[in-house]
Amino acid sequence: MLPAYLPNPIAALVGGGTPIDLGRNFTDGKRIFGDGKTYRGLIIGIFAGIGIGLVQIGVSGTYGWENLPQQTFMSITLLATGALLGDLCKSFFKRRLGKERGSKWPIADMYDLVAGALLMVLIFDPEWLFANMTLLIFVLILILTPILHRGINIIGYHFRVKEVPW
Ligand code: CTP
Ligand code: MG
Repeated sequence: MLPAYLPNPIAALVGGGTPIDLGRNFTDGKRIFGDGKTYRGLIIGIFAGIGIGLVQIGVSGTYGWENLPQQTFMSITLLATGALLGDLCKSFFKRRLGKERGSKWPIADMYDLVAGALLMVLIFDPEWLFANMTLLIFVLILILTPILHRGINIIGYHFRVKEVPW
């Protein structure tokens, strides 16, 4: 899941500049995605996820790393892209509910990237998903994601990368 987990914190580090919705509103008069979703965050975030995936591909099979799931260029690209597209979709619905950028939306804020990433591999590379996903791994993802999400965001808040600790 590293290629899915890395894009969000990297987007928070480097994000800013032109928003993906170019500042435009949806039919309800509210922003489509909001200022928290930028091209820079999206593109550099995806490259970062692919980058860590390439490292995983590089070390897999070498001593001590024999049990890593077999990543492919396809799987890492789908995981990284899906994570930030899931985040983008979440922001779309968050705006429709009238929630401000950066406001808290429990569950959705934490699992958006997991849903997006797994949905992308389910649609475009189901063979990879079913070869690597077990019930145990899925449950571990569900347990670890909120812990990692909260932990990383608190660290980001202390280093003033994020304005809020969630
Ligand atoms: N970010 C970005 N581009 C993205 C995703 C994130 O630039 N595609 C950056 C933004 O600076 C954003 C920060 O990462 O503020 C944290 O991301 P996130 O918590 O997902 O965004 P929020 O600001 O909380 O906005 P929202 O309410 O829409 O989730
Ligand atoms: Mg947020």
